[in-house]
Amino acid sequence: MSKILFSGIQPTGTPHIGNYLGALKNWILLQQNYNGIYCLVDLHAITIERDPEQLYSDTINSIKDLLALGIKPEKSTIFVQSHIPEHLELAWILNTITPVAELERMTQYKDKAKENKNNINAGLLTYPVLMAADILLYKAQAVPVGDDQLQHLELARIIARKFNNRWGDTFPEPQAILPEGKRIMSLSQPTKKMSKSHGEKNYIAITDNPDTIRKKINKAVTDTGNEKTDEMSPGVKNLFDFLLYLGKNDIHMKMMAEYQNKTIKYAELKKAVADSIIEELADFQKRREQIKETEVIEVITKGKKQAQIIAQQTMQEVRKKIGFL
Ligand code: TRP
Repeated sequence: MSKILFSGIQPTGTPHIGNYLGALKNWILLQQNYNGIYCLVDLHAITIERDPEQLYSDTINSIKDLLALGIKPEKSTIFVQSHIPEHLELAWILNTITPVAELERMTQYKDKAKENKNNINAGLLTYPVLMAADILLYKAQAVPVGDDQLQHLELARIIARKFNNRWGDTFPEPQAILPEGKRIMSLSQPTKKMSKSHGEKNYIAITDNPDTIRKKINKAVTDTGNEKTDEMSPGVKNLFDFLLYLGKNDIHMKMMAEYQNKTIKYAELKKAVADSIIEELADFQKRREQIKETEVIEVITKGKKQAQIIAQQTMQEVRKKIGFL
């Protein structure tokens, strides 16, 4: 039987091209080698104040994105976290073996507490316990995560170990599957990672239309041509990286030679980059438009049934081991 992979996805709107090239694209491929479980983590989402209508539509849209990107509901399970109450039951039990001190030293908790001073709620602190419950409930062995979630995954491993020591061998310790180190930088501030929090012009959403993609790439920061050092500027390097990550090795090589003998025209480099992005996203965008809300509902109804079977089974085992009547 293939190993179980669990992926938790925040319903926070459309991914950008940096998420896509750095992680998502590879995570879709993993489906072939694993039994994939993809969970929209709406319970996690409300640790930050969310507008109900926005949360609802973001959840629907994130599922549409996953389907259009190529997650196959015939092969993988796609479901919504709040549809399976066992996540909360297991999270409560795991709360009782998780030291508060471990939670207080989590980087993401400290950052979020700083950003949301007027809403430092208990859920923000116990967020990683719910995340551990997500993973352990399905006895997942592999978890694709970004660097920012590595600390949480390490805690999930500690919690699994503690549970196994106290109540007997139950959970495998989940392994991280890390992104491949393909880092796309901001278009407007290329020393920073591309991120939606730095504003519209620094990122390309995977749903941006060709016109928008061209405009944004055309405005990307390059260099002035008068730099004192020979080192390539971060903005130019970022454009070259796009070509590499998009598999345009021949164009990359040709333009790199032009860069080195200083005949390169950045307008041409930008055109090549924009063309490649548009080409890469064309299929996804076409499929994305065709997916209706009714299809989403069908997929998650089926996903709920599949997830429920495993979740209920695990919880029966857990309750018995703990000694619940
Ligand atoms: N915390 C993760 C993030 O912000 C989302 C998440 C929730 C998750 N539960 C998970 C990721 C379980 C992996 C496994 O990206």
